[in-house]
Amino acid sequence: MAPDFADRGGAGDGEVGVEPAAARHRRVQTTGRRLGRPLRAAHHEAIAWAAEQVALPVDGALGLGVFSAPVEALWVEIGFGAGEHVIGQALAHPSVGFIAVEAFANGFAQCAMRLRSPEHQELWPRMRLALADGRDVLEHITPSSVDRLFTLFPDPWPKPRHAKRRLAQPAFVAQAATILKTGGRWRFATDWSDYAYSALEHVLADGRFNWSARAARDWRTAPADHIQTRYQEKALGDIAPVFLDFVRR
Ligand SMILES: C[S@@+](CC[C@H](N)C(=O)[O-])C[C@H]1O[C@@H](n2cnc3c(N)ncnc32)[C@H](O)[C@@H]1O
Repeated sequence: MAPDFADRGGAGDGEVGVEPAAARHRRVQTTGRRLGRPLRAAHHEAIAWAAEQVALPVDGALGLGVFSAPVEALWVEIGFGAGEHVIGQALAHPSVGFIAVEAFANGFAQCAMRLRSPEHQELWPRMRLALADGRDVLEHITPSSVDRLFTLFPDPWPKPRHAKRRLAQPAFVAQAATILKTGGRWRFATDWSDYAYSALEHVLADGRFNWSARAARDWRTAPADHIQTRYQEKALGDIAPVFLDFVRR
């Protein structure tokens, strides 16, 4: 039985199984815009500060060596928006290094402004930000080096004719499988029913991930370590958020 993401009722107990995935899509732009409202001087300053202090190197393989502090694990977030999740996770996990990528300059600047605050100074040696397309960055991450990957509420592209612009396509799933260690975890969250189904279909079709959820409570309940995001708060989707935690085989 396929999972019922749209059902807002009580947690069900149905077993899960999903048919194989659709064909691969060629690469398309996954974000609607690169720049929204004009950046203020403070945004420009924050972006310049990030380039000085927490920039992800542009050459060489990306792994634990990008950090200037010793870390025990590498976590990656693609499409971090204003950064509340990645900064919150960094505060909660002092032995982890974070590579965080956002394609939208306004979001990147907001994250940089937040991170630049002196109260977050201890995070700087183990956070590396990129204003880039996450797919380009994943290409350079050392295979089997990542412990956790987060794609939280990626642009839903709800109209069927735009669905090919979604981030969670077979090619992205393959990148995720490449960078994650065996036992590494990828959290995908969305509040759009059709996106939840298509992402799950693509991930299971790839064949390199396990999804242990069995009942609705397993995807409807926010994981204990989840940090609510700004987009999630807006509740713009057609369902309550679902959280799909995949484990690399
Ligand atoms: C709907 S927003 C959600 C932001 C944040 N995760 C949250 O939950 O508040 C999706 C974000 O992903 C970014 N994005 C889309 N495609 C991307 C890509 N290929 N690489 C990096 N960021 C991307 C967008 O710019 C946007 O900020």
